[in-house]
Amino acid sequence: MKTVLITGASSGIGKAFAELFARENYRVVLASRSEEKLNGIAQQLREKFGAITSAIPADLAQNGGPDLLYERLKEQDIEIDVLVNNAGIGSFGPLHEQDIRSELEMLQLNVQSLSHLMMLFLPDMVARGSGRILNVGSTTSFYACPLSANYSASKAFVLSLTEAVANELQGTGVSVTALCPGATGTDFFRSARMDGQKVADPKALMSPSEVAEIGYKALMNEKTFVVPGFQNWLLTQAPRFFPRKFVTRITRSVLEQKL
Ligand SMILES: NC(=O)c1ccc[n+]([C@@H]2O[C@H](COP(=O)([O-])OP(=O)(O)OC[C@H]3O[C@@H](n4cnc5c(N)ncnc54)[C@H](OP(=O)(O)O)[C@@H]3O)[C@@H](O)[C@H]2O)c1
Repeated sequence: MKTVLITGASSGIGKAFAELFARENYRVVLASRSEEKLNGIAQQLREKFGAITSAIPADLAQNGGPDLLYERLKEQDIEIDVLVNNAGIGSFGPLHEQDIRSELEMLQLNVQSLSHLMMLFLPDMVARGSGRILNVGSTTSFYACPLSANYSASKAFVLSLTEAVANELQGTGVSVTALCPGATGTDFFRSARMDGQKVADPKALMSPSEVAEIGYKALMNEKTFVVPGFQNWLLTQAPRFFPRKFVTRITRSVLEQKL
């Protein structure tokens, strides 16, 4: 039986991944800060799918977070076949008005910790000659987003890192894929204080399970990246056809629109 580690598994896209991997007969290891929520989901997966589950509380916005998570897994002799690097948060507003500490925490989680986890798990996977990593980026991986400047830059990092490492891993039996969703119906917009914006309009959101299914398929097919939904894919193509400054103006005007 293969084992998947999913970060940010307590809600949204991570929780949808947990259900999907449990359905596919994986042993599922759930990680995020909320131990109680993780235990509840682990129990649901056991009841619904007969899955073997573990819940490991981890704050991945803290410096030692990824190391602690890796050590906990080693202590329990759990070998990871698939890493879903999903935990991530957003923020909203001009950079000069943001709380510095919160922005740095976001960068630590979205950028540093995602790369740190890859660096921890990749050597084991390469030594075994098998393994898969899914990094959750965003449609904003493809263009700059004013009013979400650090967030969009963090997601550009995710795509760039994934594309580079996917190339390095050729012939090793290990693959890495970036999943780049557009607006999805999760807690993300509320946490980022963006739920009053049109971009969070419930009518326009993809469901987390739909996004997870598309990510899973791309991961299994060893794609370097995937953008769920045709409209989202079209958006990511804009910088290829229009001047970057124009695309940046458009993304700002989209983010400014209120519900
Ligand atoms: N929803 C969208 O529209 C959208 C679009 C593009 C990309 N994404 C990306 O999708 C990923 C999942 O987000 P989501 O939409 O599913 O949002 P969500 O429902 O808010 O889930 C975020 C997850 O990250 C975890 N998390 C937050 N801070 C953490 C920390 N310090 N340490 C460990 N885990 C932490 C949360 O769990 P705890 O609170 O329990 O720690 C939660 O499980 C993120 O990377 C996000 O950037 C989302």
